Amino acid sequence: MNLLKNHPILNVMKVFLVVILSLLSIQNVNGRKHHKHHHGQIFEYSAISCCRTHTASLTDFGGVGDGVTSNTKAFQAAIDHLGQFGSYGGGSLLYVPPGKWLTGSFNLTSYFTLFLHQDAVLLATQDENEWAVIDPLPSYGRGRDADGGRYISLIFGTNLTDVVITGNNGTIDGQGAPWWDKFHKGELKYTRPYLLEIMYSTNIQISNLTFINSPSWNVHPIYSSNIIIQGITILAPVRSPNTDGINPDVCMFDKINISNSGTVLSCLASGKEESLKVQPMEPLSYIILQ
Ligand SMILES: *[C@@H]1O[C@H](CO)[C@@H](O)[C@H](O)[C@H]1NC(C)=O
Ligand SMILES: *[C@@H]1O[C@H](CO)[C@@H](O)[C@H](O)[C@H]1NC(C)=O
Ligand SMILES: *[C@@H]1O[C@H](CO)[C@@H](O)[C@H](O)[C@H]1NC(C)=O
Ligand SMILES: *[C@@H]1O[C@H](CO)[C@@H](O)[C@H](O)[C@H]1NC(C)=O
Ligand SMILES: *[C@@H]1O[C@H](CO)[C@@H](O)[C@H](O)[C@H]1NC(C)=O
Repeated sequence: MNLLKNHPILNVMKVFLVVILSLLSIQNVNGRKHHKHHHGQIFEYSAISCCRTHTASLTDFGGVGDGVTSNTKAFQAAIDHLGQFGSYGGGSLLYVPPGKWLTGSFNLTSYFTLFLHQDAVLLATQDENEWAVIDPLPSYGRGRDADGGRYISLIFGTNLTDVVITGNNGTIDGQGAPWWDKFHKGELKYTRPYLLEIMYSTNIQISNLTFINSPSWNVHPIYSSNIIIQGITILAPVRSPNTDGINPDVCMFDKINISNSGTVLSCLASGKEESLKVQPMEPLSYIILQ
């Protein structure tokens, strides 16, 4: 966000945040609502590779990890296929092997794990035409970089439950340089994409991954609840514009115990600002950053 733009330290950040064991008591920013979580609502995030019955590799769907071939169709075909199983047998997992996997945006599904090998690198396509334009966020009402819509995020999920995005510290590379350039020159037609956006979802884990060179924000959970974020490294050049780390948005935190959290807290402040402009949406009701 703008708060971060001129802060060199925050743009190169490592987010290894402390364990939060206690239930968080959540309060709406404007104090009108008060919402507490109950024990029964806590989700156990054990569904890493061990627990998903249906597994597939990106290569089963024609994926080519040469850094040049587009894997957009392979990702979407794999996820569409695995999504058919729903929660049956514990859901499904898509494995991304070592390699450089050039791709456009793809959509996640429920009861699903995306797992990146430590030598797997997702390379976000730099071809602007490959990025679908979607509506602005309801609580923002307009794009951030330009009026109107916004480019969909590289990894996008909406109306989902039980999703794990993880790996052995595999990498998601936004290849953001052309976007930053356009931003500086005022040439953006729509708001830049994020690397990972989760909307209207619950029971989400984002862990053990490295995000680099995002066109804009990195991880953007919004209108969602029960989210665990841990073991995430986020890197971008000091001068890259708006490459915030984690922006929990439309967020109503009362208590949260985070260390090394300058970025997250700035984002929280900013999210609050934006969300106050318009009618309140369903808040992020529970989040753990580790
Ligand atoms: C992903 O979901 C968004 C929003 O529902 C939609 O606009 C977009 O077309 C979907 N992308 C694909 C590849 O299906
Ligand atoms: C997703 O959830 C939101 C909020 O509940 C709802 O307005 C929207 O229609 C849902 N979208 C889909 C595709 O189900
Ligand atoms: C993950 O990779 C990043 C980038 O190479 C590195 O900075 C970080 O220390 C790694 N994290 C772990 C837990 O190995
Ligand atoms: C992260 O990786 C470490 C080391 O491989 C593993 O012990 C841990 O369970 C992983 N955590 C998550 C949440 O994926
Ligand atoms: C936050 O967590 C850290 C590490 O677990 C702990 O040392 C500290 O006392 C906690 N702070 C608060 C205010 O709960």
